[in-house]
Amino acid sequence: MNFLKIITFLVLLISCSKEQGHILPFEDSSSLSEEESLRLNFRKNGIGKVEFQKENEELVDLGRNLFFDKILSGNKNISCATCHHPELGTSDSLALSIGEGGIGLGEDREKHEGEFVPRNSPHLFNLGMNDLTTLMWDGRIAITQEEGILSPEIGINGKDPRLKYLTENIDHVLTLQAFFPVTSNDEMLGKFGSNEISNLTSNEDIWEALTNRVVEIPEYQDKLKDAYGDQIEEFNYSHIARAIAAFERDSFTLKESRFDKFMNGDNTALTSREKAGARLFTGKARCVQCHNGSNFSDENFYSLSTPQKGPGKGQIDQEDIGRANFSKKLEDKYKFKTPPLRNIALSAPYFHSGSHHSLEAVIRHHLNPKRSFEEYLADPSNSIDNLDYNVDRNIARLNSLDSFFNVLIVEEFSDLDIENIELFLRTLTDESFKDKIETPSRVPSGLEVDQI
Ligand code: HEC
Ligand code: HEC
Repeated sequence: MNFLKIITFLVLLISCSKEQGHILPFEDSSSLSEEESLRLNFRKNGIGKVEFQKENEELVDLGRNLFFDKILSGNKNISCATCHHPELGTSDSLALSIGEGGIGLGEDREKHEGEFVPRNSPHLFNLGMNDLTTLMWDGRIAITQEEGILSPEIGINGKDPRLKYLTENIDHVLTLQAFFPVTSNDEMLGKFGSNEISNLTSNEDIWEALTNRVVEIPEYQDKLKDAYGDQIEEFNYSHIARAIAAFERDSFTLKESRFDKFMNGDNTALTSREKAGARLFTGKARCVQCHNGSNFSDENFYSLSTPQKGPGKGQIDQEDIGRANFSKKLEDKYKFKTPPLRNIALSAPYFHSGSHHSLEAVIRHHLNPKRSFEEYLADPSNSIDNLDYNVDRNIARLNSLDSFFNVLIVEEFSDLDIENIELFLRTLTDESFKDKIETPSRVPSGLEVDQI
């Protein structure tokens, strides 16, 4: 053994002995073990902590029933679970969701009398973290320190809203979100004229009518009282929304993935290839630049030059211009929110219009969006999916690519690197939620429950 080798050996020995300790007195990662420095890197990017509000059991039970109950849809034919089914990774396995009027569940769901919802149904994992503020692909539902509530309903927006009785229970953006699927004609409300609630012209009236429907069912009366106490004189939709959010938070918050075990100090929880993937994620591939924070999302908006499938959400020509739809700023065109990544292996297909079906394709797209976009358009097998081939729009999509992606050089990533990043993403999987919640066999309305 020459001198250099002895020194290297000693350094290794010292760093290994540090592995057990969790206190990091200084940030000089060169003296840390490989695992500790990886953990430090994640923590520096806000990843690893899972902090959320616990709710009482009765509230969660009420929310569970409402989440699976079609009573909240105008024509009593669709529930939240239809598009966010626990057995389907809290999504629906479809590129684009099919709204009310559709038949079936998961990949077998057919349009029938329903319409495509213009976007991919996101999974619902770890959306109840205390520090999360923004939801939806374009961030149109948010609660911020500066502005208070931001939503499609001005009556509840801001810090001093007109409809205060509705905002008192809005404790988190997840509660706010649960106000809106029920007001969308295509998602849950039903076409104008198809039921008495869809004829109502204001969101406030829709929420009131739906609340009346729920309250009229004695079992729900009891559950509301159990959850909120007897002293409440009148229930309103905020009590429904808050219970749904409590259920989502309680059931879909994960903290026992192999990644979490690794973050809690178990070096053996990840294989060496998964660790290599994690190093790429935090290092050379710079995924943490955007996928950071308690839920692997910076809650910001970027254009990745992703293709559009189906009827895009947009006021003009069904073109989905993403964040710009809502912010009305030209520079936000084609930007979408960085999606959270926990349990991401369970919720294919991916991207805002469900264009990509595998994690590998998603990673390859990130590493060279321009090439991936062009290849996608050129692949005839994608044409059956109602792909947007409009030349001008597609040039604009390409040109909108976030400047971040100019710094990545795809040739620097081998196939093995890409596989390793995918292996790492798969360590974020924690399926324990499936044991915790069972699809209820019945709900208080007596309506049919979607079962896999
Ligand atoms: C027809 C299918 C469908 C139904 C029914 C539905 N959703 Fe969704 N959900 C979606 C789609 C699609 C999106 C993304 C829409 C967008 O961003 O424009 C979404 C977004 C969300 C989000 C935001 C996720 C994120 O990461 O930003 C939450 C939370 C959510 N839904 C919960 C619910 C709840 C609660 C219900 C029932 C009250 C419900 N959904 C009913 C399809 C559906
Ligand atoms: C510049 C910000 C940024 C960086 C860097 C970034 N992403 Fe993304 N990521 C996004 C955005 C924005 C989307 C959604 C794009 C869309 O739907 O059009 C996305 C989508 C994804 C999805 C699909 C999630 C879903 O629910 O559909 C995965 C998986 C993903 N990214 C993983 C990664 C990995 C792995 C890396 C590193 C190789 C990475 N991202 C780097 C911003 C980023």
